[in-house]
Amino acid sequence: MSVHIKNDDEIEKMRVAGRLGAAVLEMIGEHVVAGITTGELDTICHNYIVDVQKAIPAPLNYRGFPKSICTSLNHQICHGIPGEKKLKNGDILNIDVTVIKDEFHGDTSKMFIVGDKGAVAAERLCRITQEAMYVGIDLVRPGTTLGDIGHAIQQFAEGQNYSIVREYCGHGIGRVFHEDPQVLHYGDAGTGLVLEAGMTFTIEPMVNIGKRDSKLLPDGWTVVTRDHSLSAQWEHTILVTADGHDVLTRRDEEMAHFG
Ligand code: MF3
Ligand code: CO
Ligand code: CO
Repeated sequence: MSVHIKNDDEIEKMRVAGRLGAAVLEMIGEHVVAGITTGELDTICHNYIVDVQKAIPAPLNYRGFPKSICTSLNHQICHGIPGEKKLKNGDILNIDVTVIKDEFHGDTSKMFIVGDKGAVAAERLCRITQEAMYVGIDLVRPGTTLGDIGHAIQQFAEGQNYSIVREYCGHGIGRVFHEDPQVLHYGDAGTGLVLEAGMTFTIEPMVNIGKRDSKLLPDGWTVVTRDHSLSAQWEHTILVTADGHDVLTRRDEEMAHFG
């Protein structure tokens, strides 16, 4: 495993890419309403990234992925392909955005509840999954191990009687979209890679109300829960600093957590 430690110049470029990723999620919120299709959301994000940000949507043509963002609805875990599906009130939707600016990637996702009011169970899943991500992020500092992070996320989510998807994980990120290390959202404290300043990676837990098992649909991308239970995911790109971390894809609405 070769984990790239970013230098100051690379870190500055990661900050820029991270801010752009965050800005796409901030921009798209008002468009996530009943009646719009996920394909239309993709077009809005694509045009914003390309025309306004002068950046590149990393998913487009990545290993053959056909669209510029991922949209994962209700029981879809991740990598949903935007299309003709119309949103309806109470749906829960993950929008996952990755932009490339000046060769560097910023990767982030959040849950939207269509109509801003969902079933109690759906709202709770979205909130707890975000908290699970924060539990992991809060541990990031030199000396913490990846096992510490995975363990804490798993303990938290399973403690709420949810399950953690194991087939997909967070990842190192930089000039390369998915690089070492793999950042598992489960595991054993005290094991695995020891974090050092200058590392950049994502934390992106996928949490199911039901069983953890996933299934890949015949489109070759969309991952769903086998038992069709609801699934949620949140993602940030994080930099390890000398005394902690910076969340490179932080949005203003998260002030309450990050201060
Ligand atoms: N953004 C996803 C991640 O968090 C990866 C999407 S790959 C794609 O790692 F090809 F599906 F876009
Ligand atoms: Co990612
Ligand atoms: Co992502």
